[in-house]
Amino acid sequence: MEIKKVGVLGCGLMGSGIAQVAATAGLNVTVLETEQRFLDKGFRGVEKSLAKFAEKGTLKEKPEAVRARLNGTLKPDDLADSDVVIEAIIENIDAKREMFTKLDGIVKKEAIFATNTSSISVTEVMAATKRPERFIGLHFFNPVPLMKLVEVIRTIASSDDVIETAVEFGRRLGKVPVRTSDKTGFIVNRLLVPYLLDAIRAYEEGVGSISDIDEAMKLGCGYPMGPFTLLDFVGLDTTYYITNVMFEDFKEKRFASPPLLKRMVMAGWYGRKSGKGFYDYSDPGKPVAMKLV
Ligand code: 3HC
Repeated sequence: MEIKKVGVLGCGLMGSGIAQVAATAGLNVTVLETEQRFLDKGFRGVEKSLAKFAEKGTLKEKPEAVRARLNGTLKPDDLADSDVVIEAIIENIDAKREMFTKLDGIVKKEAIFATNTSSISVTEVMAATKRPERFIGLHFFNPVPLMKLVEVIRTIASSDDVIETAVEFGRRLGKVPVRTSDKTGFIVNRLLVPYLLDAIRAYEEGVGSISDIDEAMKLGCGYPMGPFTLLDFVGLDTTYYITNVMFEDFKEKRFASPPLLKRMVMAGWYGRKSGKGFYDYSDPGKPVAMKLV
């Protein structure tokens, strides 16, 4: 099956990034949102990002040509003839199921449905539709236009053809697809989340300061960001949500949230997006490490 038309649900950070890479790959993309202002905000981010790529000379055509393949809509019916629909709405099982049940009755039967969930069971979302063999996970990474990976997630019901089409589609978007199965956290979060939580525990135990632990992991392991910079980048609320889902599923200590993470989330310190997390972003260009223990 050839994918020509892409539907994206949600125009937040992930949805707009997915829409951008699909449009950059020459595909026509329609993004569904609940309010026009969310579309406007998401597309402004896309325009900025495309301008950066154009400046660097890594865009094959003019940014306006890519932008012209992106449409926003508030009407689910506009996704009816999509070949693939990728959902990137709020991490809430009920919201995702409700959205897919609605679209199942609208979008053509041959279309593939994919969720970009980072931690919710793909199978549980799939069960809200009548197309189990055509339902998969496609997990992209933030920032989508720069991160090369996409996890292609198979449930026990996904068909081989659909998985192979999704792998090809991932390559078409300029990503490197890896195959994984519907086990909470998939590959990346299964390994990344315990590492991030361990960094918080190490800090709580006085192993090092926030900035020293970050520097150590950057320079000692060649990671692009230290764990606290990455936690603030991903969002502490998002990380806390993921750890809770993983702990619920595996009942293993390594997935349990450290008390400090919970308290920071309760205080509304979500990281970069709220201006405060393990760093203070009062001057966004010069984050200052917090002293929290
Ligand atoms: N579009 C286009 N260009 C962008 C961009 C975007 N959205 N964001 C940044 N850039 C550009 C910058 O302008 C910069 O350009 P320049 O070289 O001309 O100055 C260039 O990309 C590099 O950016 P930075 O200088 O800001 O910083 P880095 O070199 O550190 O690169 C990074 C940024 C790619 C984000 C790198 O730090 C990185 O790989 N960090 C780790 C990110 C990561 O691990 N993400 C996964 C999170 S986990 C996840 O998403 C899963 C979920 O389920 C939780």
